[in-house]
Amino acid sequence: MKTALTGIKPTNIPHLGNYLGAIRPALALSESYRTAYFIADYHALTTVRSPTDLRRFVYDVAATWLACGLDPDKTLFYRQSDVVEVFELTWILSCLLATGQLERGHAYKDALAKGESPNAGIFNYPVLMAADILLYDTDLVPVGRDQKQHLELCRDVALRFNHLYGETLVVPDALIGDAPLVPGTDGTKMSKSKGNSIPLFESSKTLKKAVMSIATTSEPLEAPKDPEGSTVVALYRQVAGDEAAQVLEAKLRAGGYGWGHAKQDLLEALEAELGPKRERFHALRKDEALLDRLLAQGAEKAREKARATMDRVRRAIGIRG
Ligand code: TRP
Repeated sequence: MKTALTGIKPTNIPHLGNYLGAIRPALALSESYRTAYFIADYHALTTVRSPTDLRRFVYDVAATWLACGLDPDKTLFYRQSDVVEVFELTWILSCLLATGQLERGHAYKDALAKGESPNAGIFNYPVLMAADILLYDTDLVPVGRDQKQHLELCRDVALRFNHLYGETLVVPDALIGDAPLVPGTDGTKMSKSKGNSIPLFESSKTLKKAVMSIATTSEPLEAPKDPEGSTVVALYRQVAGDEAAQVLEAKLRAGGYGWGHAKQDLLEALEAELGPKRERFHALRKDEALLDRLLAQGAEKAREKARATMDRVRRAIGIRG
C-alpha cells in the first residue's frame, strides 16, 4: 500500500472551507492509502507569534480532525515538533539546495513584493516541508494548488540526493486536490482572514447567523431564480451532494421558493453533516490530556520510521559508517 502524507498548519481553528476542501478529501484517502497526517506546528511558527495561540490552534486542529473521523489506529497522526529528526534532514537537504531556488519561492517572493521583510523561516519553509515528506518515504502528497511549487522543490531535492548519494529517498508525487472551491458568505473563496468563513463547530445559532448572512440576489419570493453562480447552491451541493442540489435548483427555477428557503435547506444539510461531529469536537477539545496522549502515541510511531530513514541518510552522506 502506498503512503499518502500531508501537513496541516495550525494557524487558525479550521472552518467549513477547510473541512470540505481538505479534511473530508484527506480522510477519504485513508480508504486506499496508508496515511500520515501531521500538525505542522513549526511551519506555523513562521507567522504565529503568540504562544497561547499556537498551543490553542494545535489542539483545535487535532480535535477537529479526530472529530471529523480521523482514526489514529489507521492514520499516523502526530505533531511535527515531536519528531526532531526532521530538523536533521532539513539541514542536510538545505546543503543540496541553491539559495536561488528558495529565492524563487512564491511565498517568499510575494512577501518581498509587498515590501515586507520575511523572516528566514519563510525563506526556508520549503526545505522543512521537503524533510517532512522525505522522512517518511512518502509516495503521494495531497495538497492544494498553492503548494505545488513546494512539492516540485521537494522532488528536485530528493532526485538530487539520490543522484549524488545513490537511491536513498522516495521521490513523491503531488496530488493536487480537485475539490471545488468553497465560497464564503460573500461568494469569494472562504478564508478566515477575509471574515467570510462559516464556522465548523460553533453553536447552531452562530452557524445559522453565518448562513443567513450569505449574499444572494433579491428577487421577490414568487420570481423564478437562477441558481447558477449562487453561493447558497454551491455550498449546498458540496454538503448535500449533486442529487439534492439538483432538487434545490429545480425549486428555485420554478419560482415561489425564496433564497431564505434555500438557506434553510443549507442549514439543515450542515446540521446533519456537522451536528454529531460538533459534539465529538467539544468532548475532545475539552480533554487536552487525551489529545496529548494520542499525539504522543503517533509521534512514537512516526519517530520509529524517521529514525530508520535517518540511518539510511546518514550512512549515504558519510556522516556514519
Ligand atoms: N505548507 C503546507 C500548507 O501550508 C503545510 C505543510 C507543511 C505540508 N509540511 C507539509 C503539506 C508536508 C504537505 C506535506 O498547507
